[in-house]
Amino acid sequence: MRYNLPMIKSDRYIQGPDRRLSVAPMMDWTDRHCRHFHRHIAPDALLFTEMVTAEAVIHGDRDRLLGQAPEDLADGVPVALQLGGSDPGKLAEATRLAADFGYAEINLNVGCPSDRVQSGRFGACLMAEPALVADCVAAMAGETPLPVTVKCRIGIDDMDQESGLDSFVDAVEDAGVSTLYLHARKAWLQGLSPKENRDIPPLNYDRAARLAAARPQMQVILNGGLDTVDATLSQLPHFAGVMLGRAAYRTPMILAALAEAVFGRETPSRLDIASAMADYADRRTAEDVPLHSITRHMLGLYHGQRGARLWRRQLGEEARNRHDGGALIREVAGACEEMAAKIAA
Ligand SMILES: Cc1cc2nc3c(=O)[nH]c(=O)nc-3n(C[C@H](O)[C@H](O)[C@H](O)COP(=O)(O)O)c2cc1C
Repeated sequence: MRYNLPMIKSDRYIQGPDRRLSVAPMMDWTDRHCRHFHRHIAPDALLFTEMVTAEAVIHGDRDRLLGQAPEDLADGVPVALQLGGSDPGKLAEATRLAADFGYAEINLNVGCPSDRVQSGRFGACLMAEPALVADCVAAMAGETPLPVTVKCRIGIDDMDQESGLDSFVDAVEDAGVSTLYLHARKAWLQGLSPKENRDIPPLNYDRAARLAAARPQMQVILNGGLDTVDATLSQLPHFAGVMLGRAAYRTPMILAALAEAVFGRETPSRLDIASAMADYADRRTAEDVPLHSITRHMLGLYHGQRGARLWRRQLGEEARNRHDGGALIREVAGACEEMAAKIAA
């Protein structure tokens, strides 16, 4: 599949990794195993960690929180570390402590609306405190040569999404941020669950596009509700890049189709991806990683294909009972391919 994309100004990509296609930070989802899976599907995409709080980095088990799959580290694949916090000193310290973990950029979460995050006074509620966010990113940038970026919403609650967003972006831009991942809907901090806050406040791609057009010196990356190849590619010309969250997780082959269109990267077969992940599972389970913690991210691989149900069920139900490396992945992928071949014959 080829799309005619307009030429995009190359100077938009100078700082840091190529950000034309990225996978959003998602707590409990985008862990190191999930990222390794996505890496096989779209090797050029920029992948994000789950959010890690600055406090956790400072006081917690850093190898567990910040460690990457050794294969990905060795290959130098681009991964952005997302931090959460609102204390400039702690964020600076966490940024410094992350230096040896091989990340390509450090991102500050100013978009997450959960209660837990609000009570810690970080995430989306920080959109109301642009000066504090500016202090945070400036303190982080003081500790790393890596780009420091921000992920935010177009506003919160009754904040004016024209002037309020502009003031917020002015503040972070003055503090040195040149890349913004914009979830193009407001967060309503009262009365909605985090899940509802990802669906109910309306998307406003036009507002996001106006921000991008008004600030050609910045990279504005569009996020939110992008769930088909065509819809995603139709937005790409207006932005420096696109970021997919749930669609990338639930229907991961969308990443391959986008990587083909954006980077000219040939789409790998599902069987090749499954085989590579089976080899990965052989290595990790030998280190006592439970198979299930790898396969749970892979349930969408055969989405829309013959064998999708078999794949989901077998991988979902059997992984906890198996202790023979990645054999289950090989077996079920083989069975899915046979089903597809029989139907094609
Ligand atoms: C399970 C889950 C966990 C998430 N965790 C984070 C997070 O840690 N940090 C963050 O900035 N956004 C988080 N998000 C929001 C996503 O990064 C993204 O902005 C949102 O899902 C909208 O994009 P989408 O419509 O492509 O999914 C999370 C979303 C989901 C579904």
